[in-house]
Amino acid sequence: MRIAILTGAGISAESGLGTFRDQDGLWTKYDLNDVATPQGFARNPRLVHDFYNARRANCVQAAPNAAHQALADLASGPHDVTLITQNVDDLHERAGSPAVVHMHGELMRAVCASCDARWDAPLEMDPKDPCPACHVQTTRPDIVWFGEMPYMMDDIAQAVTAADLFVAIGTSAEVYPAAGLVELARGDTLEINLEPSARANAFENHRFGLATDIVPAWVAELR
Ligand code: OAD
Repeated sequence: MRIAILTGAGISAESGLGTFRDQDGLWTKYDLNDVATPQGFARNPRLVHDFYNARRANCVQAAPNAAHQALADLASGPHDVTLITQNVDDLHERAGSPAVVHMHGELMRAVCASCDARWDAPLEMDPKDPCPACHVQTTRPDIVWFGEMPYMMDDIAQAVTAADLFVAIGTSAEVYPAAGLVELARGDTLEINLEPSARANAFENHRFGLATDIVPAWVAELR
């Protein structure tokens, strides 16, 4: 069976990484216009680097949980699995998932806004860091900000359309185009989340609860 999976911040919540829109979520403490837009970065690169440096530090301390592990196990079985994530953490990779599609970029990667070179981000990025390729001081975290185009959209659309089963895990479905992927699904659709998302009605099937309970149980049924 071809399975396309979309994950969001909810899958990493039990690893201790904050979600965005839950009570106490990151967007209740920070204005996303300041830290997650190209305009915010142009106004105050120090603030934006500090924000992502703090998130990178949290990420390094965190460990993959049973839900990340179950998805890695699923990929090693007989099914053809495409794992798409909105998350910028590397917990899917550390659990052992191969070829994770990071549609919103990666905390652990840096990009040069001048020449588009990419490299592994240091733990602490600084607005004065020169690009290793062109030496201009325009380095930024390799994160897709609001107003920018998510990565790999053609491949993602193709994988979701071709899938026999599309599953969304731990996402509020408030951010597009990720939230609209369910519309492309031709096969079965399943939402796994703590509560119904904004697009819950677009899914045929639902399982509500903690990702670390629901995802391993669902994977066990498939194997
Ligand atoms: P959100 O914070 O919007 O939503 C997280 C979802 O996970 C919510 O629906 C929660 O109910 C659910 N949830 C929380 N804890 C859970 C748990 N233990 N088990 C299962 N579900 C749980 O996060 P995303 O939907 O991922 O983009 O946010 C999408 C994008 O908005 C992010 O990629 C980020 C953000 O702004 C950028 O920064 C560009």
